[in-house]
Amino acid sequence: MATNRTFTMIKPDAVENGHIGAILAKINTAGFKIVAMKLTQLSKRDAEIFYGEHSERPFFGELVEFMTRGPIVSAILEKENAVEDFRTLIGATNPAEAAEGTIRKMYATSIGENAVHGSDSDANAAKEGAFHFSGRETF
Ligand code: CMP
Repeated sequence: MATNRTFTMIKPDAVENGHIGAILAKINTAGFKIVAMKLTQLSKRDAEIFYGEHSERPFFGELVEFMTRGPIVSAILEKENAVEDFRTLIGATNPAEAAEGTIRKMYATSIGENAVHGSDSDANAAKEGAFHFSGRETF
């Protein structure tokens, strides 16, 4: 059964470009409730663990370098059918393939620097949320 939570990060490119407010507004307008949120920065070790499933990919080094170069906003979002609906809201991984009006179409610049993360399954949403937030930080 689908759970009603997903995990997101507003990535360093979108934070650097001043898009935190606009992206959060789109998230709220789409009906997601924020149940945990912080401005933080991943260490190299954090990023290597978080993206562990991509460790054999040719872009892994670039991905870790990018995700650690500045602050991110991490958040847990709640909505019915959260994982799937959030992936629809953010659009395809590659912004060139993302649908009009999606967050990546509007704010991402490349497949690597793609503005936002959205969990790809309920299991990963739970795992990723727990990586970033303690029970006391989640409402
Ligand atoms: P996301 O889907 O949030 O998590 C995995 C990330 O790896 C993805 O976003 C991109 O930022 C990055 N990524 C995926 N494919 C490529 C690629 N071909 N080149 C560079 N980075 C990539």
